[in-house]
Amino acid sequence: MKIAMVGSGYVGLVSGACFADFGHDVVCIDKDQSKIDRLHEGVMPIYEPGLDALVESNVKAGRLSFTTSLAEGIKDAAAIFIAVGTPSRRGDGHADLSFVYAVAKEVGESLSGPAVVVTKSTVPVGTGDEVERILKDSGTAHQFSVVSNPEFLREGAAIGDFKRPDRIVIGAEDDFGRDVMREVYRPLFLNESPILFTERRTSELIKYAANAFLATKITFINEMADLCEKVGANVQDVSRGIGMDNRIGSKFLHAGPGYGGSCFPKDTLALLKTAEDYDSPTRIVEAVVKTNESRKRAMGRKVLDALGGAENARGKKAALLGLTFKPNTDDMRDSPAIAVAQTLTDAGVIVSAYDPEGMEIAHPLMPDVIMCDDPYAALEGADVTAIVTEWDAFRALDLGRVKELVNAPVMVDLRNIYNPDDMRASGFTYTSIGRA
Ligand code: UDX
Repeated sequence: MKIAMVGSGYVGLVSGACFADFGHDVVCIDKDQSKIDRLHEGVMPIYEPGLDALVESNVKAGRLSFTTSLAEGIKDAAAIFIAVGTPSRRGDGHADLSFVYAVAKEVGESLSGPAVVVTKSTVPVGTGDEVERILKDSGTAHQFSVVSNPEFLREGAAIGDFKRPDRIVIGAEDDFGRDVMREVYRPLFLNESPILFTERRTSELIKYAANAFLATKITFINEMADLCEKVGANVQDVSRGIGMDNRIGSKFLHAGPGYGGSCFPKDTLALLKTAEDYDSPTRIVEAVVKTNESRKRAMGRKVLDALGGAENARGKKAALLGLTFKPNTDDMRDSPAIAVAQTLTDAGVIVSAYDPEGMEIAHPLMPDVIMCDDPYAALEGADVTAIVTEWDAFRALDLGRVKELVNAPVMVDLRNIYNPDDMRASGFTYTSIGRA
């Protein structure tokens, strides 16, 4: 089956490469000529473990190709996926759908045969209806159906998530749409991955509801962590204690500096906007968004506290280990590290940092931060060390070496990757999240 993927960013490229790996014939399309040129040379536009090898083997096998021409790329495709960005619109947080609609228009003008047009980008309820209207208005003579098929890929684990999904959600309005999508996902069907067929609008909402729920879970445990600190309890045991209840589940109960990334912040805002437009407020999600936002600067203040408070911090040195919003990505979008660094530099602290993949993108976002070549270089002369992202490289630091390099063995572990007793036994003044 021929599949066209319009938009070769994170979602489009991972999905395209995985579909090709399942044996489909996939063309990834992008307007960005330099991105396509680099893909032809085997250079990935993003860092995602395993993606370069997956792309290379499928290009070699002749199942995956790249083009800047939409008309050429969608020719004879049975399924055309729209996987372009839907960033937050400036001002009101609504998802900016201009890229989605521009692609829909061009697809309508270029259709060469019957096709299912699939929105994979995260799009608000009703976007599929608008895409359908645009395709109709294009005057195409070919049969088409508009389907919603949201992605649930986690950065850093995207290939595994695609190949072994918890579920596949397909929102289709007719048999043509359902039949083509069944064929698209047949390799996973055989894998016994659960597929939920539903209406298009429901499918669009499922994506937002899923991300908002996960963001709520994280924010809930983060507030419990704050309470644990006040009452002398341990949030990790609270997580285990509630997570073992199957109704609650153990995942996404890891307390930390607040969620970031390309999805949760933008999707929760977009859901609030939809709820407002339909006069159906989602107060819980409103509270989650506010709580998470203020938490990020609060984490900066936590590091300042370890320096003796903002009033004593000027001229002192802080080392940040990890900058990306989570490990195994170079993505800095809405990373708590940005607010932490800003809070510190605002107080006159000299900040150095190391991140295995994120420094190039981070540098313009935090121009006052000194980027270092390795974790130990960042620690030299530090009065406080903060672990901001739980990269594996920071899980087994040579603590003896750390103590020799730093000015003071003070550590703020915003990801709880060390054991408090061990750290104290090693001579560190150690604080973490939600643990005495
Ligand atoms: C998320 C969803 O998981 C995915 O299904 C969706 O399609 C896109 O958004 P992603 O943003 O890649 O994926 O990362 P995820 O692993 O979900 O983490 C998001 C944020 O939450 C990170 O900042 C992470 O550090 C934080 N987080 C996650 C916690 O603080 N605690 C947790 O227990 C889990």
